[in-house]
Amino acid sequence: MSESLQIVNNRSGHSTTALLLGSGELGKEVAIELMRLGVTVVACDRYDQAPAMQVAQKKAVINMRDPQSLNDLIVKVNPDFIIPEIEAISTETLLKLEKEGYNVVPSAYAANMTMNREAIRELAAEQLQLPTSPYFFASSIEEIKEQIHTVGYPCVMKPVMSSSGRGQSVLKSDQDIEKSFKAACSDGRGGIDRVIVEGFINFDREITLLTVSAVDGLHFCKPIGHHQVNGDYRESWQPEELSEEVMMEAKRLASSVVTALGGYGIFGVELFICGDKVLFSELSPRPHDTGMVTLISQDLSEFALHVRALLGLPIGEIGFIGPSASAALVFEGEGEVLRYGGLVEALNEGPHTQLRIFGKPELSGERRLGVCLCRENTVDKALECVKRMRENITFEAQSAPPPVQVEESRAEPKALDEEKEPTA
Ligand SMILES: Nc1ncnc2c1ncn2[C@@H]1O[C@H](COP(=O)(O)OP(=O)(O)OP(=O)(O)O)[C@@H](O)[C@H]1O
Ligand SMILES: [Mg+2]
Repeated sequence: MSESLQIVNNRSGHSTTALLLGSGELGKEVAIELMRLGVTVVACDRYDQAPAMQVAQKKAVINMRDPQSLNDLIVKVNPDFIIPEIEAISTETLLKLEKEGYNVVPSAYAANMTMNREAIRELAAEQLQLPTSPYFFASSIEEIKEQIHTVGYPCVMKPVMSSSGRGQSVLKSDQDIEKSFKAACSDGRGGIDRVIVEGFINFDREITLLTVSAVDGLHFCKPIGHHQVNGDYRESWQPEELSEEVMMEAKRLASSVVTALGGYGIFGVELFICGDKVLFSELSPRPHDTGMVTLISQDLSEFALHVRALLGLPIGEIGFIGPSASAALVFEGEGEVLRYGGLVEALNEGPHTQLRIFGKPELSGERRLGVCLCRENTVDKALECVKRMRENITFEAQSAPPPVQVEESRAEPKALDEEKEPTA
């Protein structure tokens, strides 16, 4: 962006508009930060009443993986900023529209490269020569059997297109190949029967290094440590203390891949720490779920930083407030009436606590529905606190409609089709 940003609010014509592709809990916080700066937000997802739609001015419900639907929506909204918030998007459409002059942040290239493990691994490991786990790609059981000796057992198999640990499994011997491949094929996105097989890394710790690329250069948040269960994050904390040497190496890897992807925004760079070695794992060209801890640990959260950067605004210095932790509220059940209790008890667990309940409209199976946040004197205390907070929270999902219907206290966000044509 050569000219510096001007925000336009225009009741009858085009206001500065961001189209959020993906309206989950991370998108909701991005929407709030955009709106704080006067940007009009169109929140899009495949289902209605998604978290970001509950705060945005406008919404659109489409299948974002369908090129035609995505193209039509973007042309209709004509946004100043297109912000992919999830991986499952037709990134080819973003690449095409970027060439036509639309502004995809951080870049259509970044969205396209990171939605496929093959593309980002080739960039990081082969072109940029960053250290990673040993790996190979395969599209059949025979191909896996031929190559598996190159990584050995145990190893991890993942669909090339998936997130939150879906379709991922650890293999201990040849006997696991068939079962794992079938699981990866049925859980992967995009109907492609292709997997990455990675040597299992016995890391000491894994971190997310939030890296902001902005008009005033690259900025790093303090490293975030996290704990995953079946490839899905459960707790994160900041800072994860690293030696100066390891921190320098982590920054080197993050700078290298973020610079190669290009564009302004925040990137969640996932790294494995093994002794004094750092391995690149993968990255998100957007806020990272483990980075929700920054809602309480920093003066500008990862969401605020993303918005500042993508609008072309300077970051300055990122203010770290104190050691903090987050614990995801993952619940299981079925129904459209979701009831959360024990909130007072949870918030009373520490002097600096916060809660986010994402407002997801229904539950079928297991889903992340909220997050507990705490700031304390030490990371250990903060972690203990968020775990206690989580234990206090009770949850119930029911199918029956609520007995009392309360009227909406505010207008529903407008669906795009309800929008009036701008007056000439
Ligand atoms: N090669 C490996 N060795 C050991 N553990 C691994 C390996 N690859 C992945 N894991 C573990 O599984 C987790 C999820 O893996 P990865 O980040 O690749 O999957 P994902 O589906 O993209 O997850 P997300 O979308 O939540 O980031 C990692 O954070 C790590 O804990
Ligand atoms: Mg990951």
